[in-house]
Amino acid sequence: MMKHMSISSMNLDTVLNQASQQLQQNGISNARHVAQILLRNCLDLDREEVLRSPKQLVRSGSVAKFYRAVSRRCHHEPVSRIIGFREFWSLPFKVTSAVLDPRSDSETVVAAALDFSEHRKYESLRVLDLGTGTGCLVMAFLSERHNATAIATDISVEALSVARSNAVSLGLAQRCTFVSANWCAGISDRFDVVLANPPYIPTAVIPTLEADVYRYDPHVAIDGGVDGGACYQQLIPLLSKVLRRGARVFLEIGVEQSELVTNILRANMLSVIEIRKDLSGNARCIVAEAETDKKKG
Ligand SMILES: C[S@@+](CC[C@H](N)C(=O)[O-])C[C@H]1O[C@@H](n2cnc3c(N)ncnc32)[C@H](O)[C@@H]1O
Repeated sequence: MMKHMSISSMNLDTVLNQASQQLQQNGISNARHVAQILLRNCLDLDREEVLRSPKQLVRSGSVAKFYRAVSRRCHHEPVSRIIGFREFWSLPFKVTSAVLDPRSDSETVVAAALDFSEHRKYESLRVLDLGTGTGCLVMAFLSERHNATAIATDISVEALSVARSNAVSLGLAQRCTFVSANWCAGISDRFDVVLANPPYIPTAVIPTLEADVYRYDPHVAIDGGVDGGACYQQLIPLLSKVLRRGARVFLEIGVEQSELVTNILRANMLSVIEIRKDLSGNARCIVAEAETDKKKG
């Protein structure tokens, strides 16, 4: 039997205008742009279709679905969580409530690791990604270095399942193994590249963050303890056991954490090679190597 699909009396332009207004009234910035993204996602339209046919009537079911999405954004749920994906390094990543919503600032970590391996494109590089979340850092790296293989860890099995599904949809699953671990405890391999974006927000700061982050990013992915450095304190001492000779470590850091993390690295016989800024000019990625490598030149 054919399903009856009722057409509402509303066209694309009307629903977009109403939704933009509602979003604006709820303090959502870029309201029109957000409404367009949600509409395209709910109606499965591309950008041109929305612009080309603003008077096109919309099915009642789609209007209802769209308004449910708008209402979620009015409660500050991030767009990526509503539509279920986020673009990172121009690749699509599935996002669920179990993972950090990837931030564009983290692309600084990927860029630094790619620069380091620029002259080693054809070697079989081994990569370790600690606290993989969606898998965005390691997948971006593997997408550019076709001879690299990786292990990605997370303490959250739900996050690992999201990362695995991203690896499958990006066609990278053959080159990445996912392991449930406390950072790299129990990993016996050694690696050329270690990536990590650990939780680094001081616990007391978390309730003061925007609702988009505070309510929706899992706290296991953002809580860095009293001074924000607790996870660096846990994972950096484990690194000497997993670094190959000549390996580099690429750690994302929060704003004004370079001194804190540099001190932890030094206390663990690692030297800082570079502190790389993100596009906003904030120190975002610390690159380090074993002191023994530095002495050998
Ligand atoms: C800031 S998120 C980073 C996620 C992803 N790498 C990214 O850059 O978007 C930190 C991740 O570390 C994981 N994590 C927290 N504590 C951990 C631990 N003790 N061992 C392994 N992973 C941990 C969290 O589950 C979360 O996925």
